[in-house]
Amino acid sequence: MSDIKRDPTPVDRNLAMELVRVTEAAALAASAWVGRGDKNSADGAAVDAMRRAFDTVAISGTVMIGEGEMDEAPMLYIGEKVGLGGPQVDIAVDPLEGTSITAKGGPNAIAVLAVAEAGGFLHAPDIYMEKIAVGPNLPAGVVDLDASPEENLRELARAKKCSVNDLVVCMLDRDRHQETIRACRAAGARIMLLGDGDVAGVVACSQPDAGVDMYLGSGGAPEGVLAAAAFRCIGGQLQGRLLYEDDSQIERAKAMGITDPHRKFATHEMARGEVMFAATGVTTGAFLRGVRRTAAGAITHSIVMRSKTGTVRYVEGHHNLTLKPGAFFG
Ligand code: FBP
Repeated sequence: MSDIKRDPTPVDRNLAMELVRVTEAAALAASAWVGRGDKNSADGAAVDAMRRAFDTVAISGTVMIGEGEMDEAPMLYIGEKVGLGGPQVDIAVDPLEGTSITAKGGPNAIAVLAVAEAGGFLHAPDIYMEKIAVGPNLPAGVVDLDASPEENLRELARAKKCSVNDLVVCMLDRDRHQETIRACRAAGARIMLLGDGDVAGVVACSQPDAGVDMYLGSGGAPEGVLAAAAFRCIGGQLQGRLLYEDDSQIERAKAMGITDPHRKFATHEMARGEVMFAATGVTTGAFLRGVRRTAAGAITHSIVMRSKTGTVRYVEGHHNLTLKPGAFFG
């Protein structure tokens, strides 16, 4: 009998490449809708392709972050089972992160998913979350949601041994961020505004070439969990706190198992245990190139990473769609 030590973890490392096929499928399908002014069709195509691609993956997956509750989403709804059968894992998906930017042909749209051991993801309702994020190799707690933008920038500059004037803060271009934008600029920092797509915005903090030092502001809570999964693999600190518009949202969060609705969640509290993250660019953005159509098919650019080893892989896929007419995945 072989004395080779078996990896005891149920989430096999080969799964990482399978996950790339799933995000590629969604990105390829969505790419047919880039710039066509129809965000619902773009989203629908991505959801459908991602759902079908999951049927080829050897997992017993349960969607924990998805397209909505069972009665509001036909596919990839919360609680839906996906996969061919295999290790029990939880799934977080956003088949098309940046529906409006896809419709407008703007930057930063991605197809994204994460996988965790069963029970690994925060069950975040589809409401807003306040977020603050910085990249890897910084002291724990260097920034905090309860500190002012000025204090956070000062501490970050101190940790990075630079001046606040050297720092770039990324956030969504929303009226609700006007005061934060003003405070950051007054402190000396520069602002990079995103039309949409705050998973890419948060992940950009961990990419040296992206030129983003801090992510700040509110966006979707499900997107916060996806970004936390990425940070568990690539490094970086993300803190998130749910934002409620009314009491019914608080009740909803409690019903989803969030005992302290005002808790500041750390990265590892949003994505626990062993985690994998995969994303494929739909349109070119801070860390991924978008789908490029060729005579025979298309070229995709993806990232896949695992928390267990911290390995980050960029995958360029050359898809010959003439060999599988009508198919956007495989
Ligand atoms: P969609 O892909 O669902 O359009 O989300 C895009 C997005 O920009 C997210 O990245 C972000 O978390 C959220 O919308 C912000 O919501 P809002 O547009 O209401 O500010």
